Amino acid sequence: MKITTLIENTKEKDSNLINEHGLSILIEVDNKKILFDTGASASFINNAKDLNISLKDIDHILLSHGHYDHCGGLRNFLDEYNPDCTLHLHKDFFKVCDKSYLNDENNVFSNDTCEKYRYIGIDFDENYIGSKNAEISLIKEDIYKLSHSLYVFSNFEKSIDYEKRNENMKIKIHEKYVTDNFTEEIALGIDTPKGLLIIVGCSHVGILNTLSTIEKRTGKKIYGVIGGTHLVEAQEDRILKTIDYIKEKNIDLIGFSHCTGEKAVEMFKKAFHNFFINSTGTIIEV
Ligand SMILES: [Fe+2]
Ligand SMILES: [Fe+2]
Repeated sequence: MKITTLIENTKEKDSNLINEHGLSILIEVDNKKILFDTGASASFINNAKDLNISLKDIDHILLSHGHYDHCGGLRNFLDEYNPDCTLHLHKDFFKVCDKSYLNDENNVFSNDTCEKYRYIGIDFDENYIGSKNAEISLIKEDIYKLSHSLYVFSNFEKSIDYEKRNENMKIKIHEKYVTDNFTEEIALGIDTPKGLLIIVGCSHVGILNTLSTIEKRTGKKIYGVIGGTHLVEAQEDRILKTIDYIKEKNIDLIGFSHCTGEKAVEMFKKAFHNFFINSTGTIIEV
C-alpha cells in the first residue's frame, strides 16, 4: 500500500513540486488507485506528472467535504482525463455545498476582501459530473467498505464538547446563512497489519470526534493518521487535549498538515518524536 501526498500547503525546501492551500492524496491499495481530494487547482495534476504518477487510470475519487481547497481541482482533473471512475460523495454533499466564510472580527483567515461572506464552496454541480464518465455514488452508511482493505467513514458523533464548529463557516440554506455542521464530511481508513491508517481532509467535525467515532464503530486500533486537523483556530488547551488523546491511544504514525496550523505543529513536534508534517510529495508505504 502506497500513499502519496500530491499537494498540500507545504513542501520540502529543495522540492520542485508546487504547494498550495489545499489537499490531495493518492492511495494505491488492493490494485486500485484512489484519489482523496483534488486540491484547490490543477496543480496536483502537474505534481503527479513530476512524480511520474499516472492519474489516467484512477478508479475512485473521494471528496472529504465541499470546500474549494479540497474540490477545486476536480474539474481540471475530469476535463483532462475523464476516466471511467466512481466519485464517492456523502449523501448530503450537494445539499450543503453552498459554503461561505463570514468575515468579521473573529476572522482567523484574514484576507483583503471586503465582502461579508466569501464563497469557499465547489465550482461544479451534478449536471457537470453527469457530462463526464465519472459516476456518482452517494454514501449513506456510517462505514462504507470500498474495497478489501479500504473503508469510508462518515456521520461522525460530535461528543467531544471542546471540539466546536467554527461559527464563521456558513452554509446558505433557503437564502439564510447558518453555521456549517459539515454533515457531508468523510474520512478514509485503510486496514494495515499494524491497525487502521486514517486519512482526513480538514476534520471540521473535530479530529478527536473523527478518531473516537471510528475506533468505537470498528473496534480496531488506530495505527496512524494523516491529513488536516483544523487545529489552526484551536486554543492551546484543546491542542494539549488532542496530544493527550494521541498519546493515550499510542498512535504510531502522526502526519498532520494542511489546516493544522503552525502553533499546533510546533506543539506536536515537541510532544512526539514520530510526528511529521505530511507535506507535498510525502510518500508512505506500509
Ligand atoms: Fe481545507
Ligand atoms: Fe475545509
